[in-house]
Amino acid sequence: MTAGASAASGVIGRARARAGTNIALVKYWGKRDRALNLPAAGSLSLTLDGLGSDTEVTFLAGRPAGPNAPDEVLLDGQPADATTAARVSRFLDLVRARAGSRAPARVRTHNSVPTAAGLASSASGFAALALAATRAARLDLSPRELSELARRGSGSAARSIFGGLVELHAGSAPDGGDAVAEQILPPGAWDLRLVVAITSDARKALSSTAAMERTANSSPYFPAWVDAVAGDLAAARAAIAARDLDSLGAVTERSCLRMHACALAADPGVLYWNPVTVALIHAVRALREAVAPAYFTIDAGPHVKVLCAAAHADAVRDRLAAVPGVLRTLVAGPGPGVQLVSADAPSSSPLA
Ligand code: DP6
Repeated sequence: MTAGASAASGVIGRARARAGTNIALVKYWGKRDRALNLPAAGSLSLTLDGLGSDTEVTFLAGRPAGPNAPDEVLLDGQPADATTAARVSRFLDLVRARAGSRAPARVRTHNSVPTAAGLASSASGFAALALAATRAARLDLSPRELSELARRGSGSAARSIFGGLVELHAGSAPDGGDAVAEQILPPGAWDLRLVVAITSDARKALSSTAAMERTANSSPYFPAWVDAVAGDLAAARAAIAARDLDSLGAVTERSCLRMHACALAADPGVLYWNPVTVALIHAVRALREAVAPAYFTIDAGPHVKVLCAAAHADAVRDRLAAVPGVLRTLVAGPGPGVQLVSADAPSSSPLA
């Protein structure tokens, strides 16, 4: 590699991007190919406004990336743990290979979602990283290409490339070229809200990657889970087309419960819920009778996310906040897809 034209600063390309996290209404749980991170089935989610990741990537002149010139990865101002840093470096290797570069990178990410607490910071993190890293490497990918790339970092990240309601296709191509996300409804088209009830500040015990692998390898219910997803996706699409919250909510709850039932049946069983999680499930079912249409979903953590209409979000939030053990609540609406905040390539010379 060359030292680059702007050796004074050592910076040969820099870009910053922002992405919202997303919450799956039809869950992704299980892979058909680990190396390419291909999902076993499709999934469908809502990208959120205001909860996400803001990531800056700077490629630096100097020695080639590797043990002598490691990537520097900062999460909320602190060096990332070794596992996360290695995962980010492997992802950057994909971008470097595409750009024909070996330049090491400095990555700075700020999350407005609690990292690894089951609020899907990897979804917004890898979506923002995909756009920032490619632009810093002077690559200009289409949204579909970005979605495919983000999926390599984290399956759910493929969906955060797009705003609003988004479907990630399972695809069938061996190279994963069709395992990409697509927008189903733009963020302004349906005034939904997700009310998030936080039930713990602990980091999750088992990553979703490890838990879904264990589930696929040992849960006798895994084939049945995968078989059920296509029907749930069709029902969700129809509910969205009709703006039918009750039908979308019914699919949301059954997809969540089936995913967790399948994981519970793994060996050893995967249990993400705490007693407050269960109390919230009962509270949502009760408030649905008494207050407003509202439907729960739960990811790889103990928090409960509740789907409702914007007009009912305050009432739903008040009810959830009153459940003993709930630490905090958040309310988020549909948000945009990944956005470039800034890009600055000090020279027009190639990155490598
Ligand atoms: C429960 O996208 O975190 O949130 O592809 O291994 O990084 P990897 O998994 P990840 O899994 C998300 C699981 C989920 C459901 C969902 O978001 O669809």
